[in-house]
Amino acid sequence: MSSPTHAKTESKEQEVPEKAKAAVLVESVPLPAGTPIVKGYDWNKGVSYKALLETYRFCGFQATNFGLAVEEINKMLSCRAIPLSEDLEDVLEEDEFIRRNSNCTIFLGFTSNMVSAGIRDTICFLVQHHMVDCIVTTAGGVEEDLIKCLAPTYIGDFHLEGRKLREKGINRIGNLLVPNENYCLFEDWVMPRLDAMLEEQKEKGTLWTPSKVIAKLGEEIGDPSSICYWAAKNKIPVFSPALTDGSLGDMMYFHSYRNPGLVLDIIQDLRRLNTMAVKAANTGMVIIGGGVIKHHICNANLMRNGADYAVFINTASEFDGSDSGARPDEAISWGKIKKDASPVKVYSEASLVFPLLVGETFAKRYHATKIKAESDV
Ligand SMILES: NC(=O)c1ccc[n+]([C@@H]2O[C@H](COP(=O)([O-])OP(=O)(O)OC[C@H]3O[C@@H](n4cnc5c(N)ncnc54)[C@H](O)[C@@H]3O)[C@@H](O)[C@H]2O)c1
Repeated sequence: MSSPTHAKTESKEQEVPEKAKAAVLVESVPLPAGTPIVKGYDWNKGVSYKALLETYRFCGFQATNFGLAVEEINKMLSCRAIPLSEDLEDVLEEDEFIRRNSNCTIFLGFTSNMVSAGIRDTICFLVQHHMVDCIVTTAGGVEEDLIKCLAPTYIGDFHLEGRKLREKGINRIGNLLVPNENYCLFEDWVMPRLDAMLEEQKEKGTLWTPSKVIAKLGEEIGDPSSICYWAAKNKIPVFSPALTDGSLGDMMYFHSYRNPGLVLDIIQDLRRLNTMAVKAANTGMVIIGGGVIKHHICNANLMRNGADYAVFINTASEFDGSDSGARPDEAISWGKIKKDASPVKVYSEASLVFPLLVGETFAKRYHATKIKAESDV
């Protein structure tokens, strides 16, 4: 038998775990009916990447955000598939690049490195089949596309030493390599085109803008592996307000000494871009990466009180207050995305994710429609 003092200590000791238990296991309120349950892919079913990707939505973390991005883009595409009502037909618009031609105007933005990488080919598919209506990229996104028609970019390594590469005349973009020779070929190709543009400016009074220059270069390159080629052919404008910040700018700088006088008007382009957003029936934004391309598209959508659908894919975080890292919610606060939209940000390196996203959305629809069209014949 324990003494009275001992019994007191024992009951106190029991009190401690009870208290801790109550603190740890606060009683649960039931989750709303239909709350998705976490579940991954069952590899016993075989190796099916299609089935695997369909499970991402319920996997958690960025896999879930990927699944949400698939849903968001599919919403954009369903909206786009609704025929444009007669009252929205844009018959009076003379500029065929900015004419409203679908029920959901899709703005695609990508940083230059996407074009240096093999993401160029995925973007090219979207442009070739006119699945987007407006493109915003940076200078490298234009010149790397054109240069790849003249000479290839190679796979290297992130750790190749800069000093040694410099001595060999090879430039590094991450783990990609571009020989200086490629830029020499580009110079030979682009200089006569700049001469011709200057000539047209002087003779016909053409007021060149970055998007008009890009369309002209796209026509001239005549190569179906090129984004600019298909954009020019399908009358999809490619905006690049900082077109001089790249090799193309170097060429324009040299050209300004060799044959001075070429003028680019960025305000006219801003008007074209903003007009597309203002007159759109609905809009969707698919933005790969950050910086100018992200903000330029979002800002155009401010002119219409916000985009209806949005997907951001980037690696940037918001803690530094950068626009690159800003989540869609920040864009809602500015009126760049509609208050009732369901935008998605996928935190990921885009070369891993963007082709998969296109596979689950644009490409799936394209091939399904193609098969249906063929079976209808
Ligand atoms: N190949 C090139 O990258 C290249 C070539 C020539 C000129 N330039 C010039 O460099 C300048 C800066 O380039 P930029 O504005 O296109 O973008 P950037 O390369 O500076 O990237 C901007 C942001 O986008 C996000 N991002 C970039 N790559 C990503 C990826 N793979 N996955 C996910 N998120 C990613 C990051 O948050 C990054 O900070 C531009 O003026 C451009 O013309 C670039």
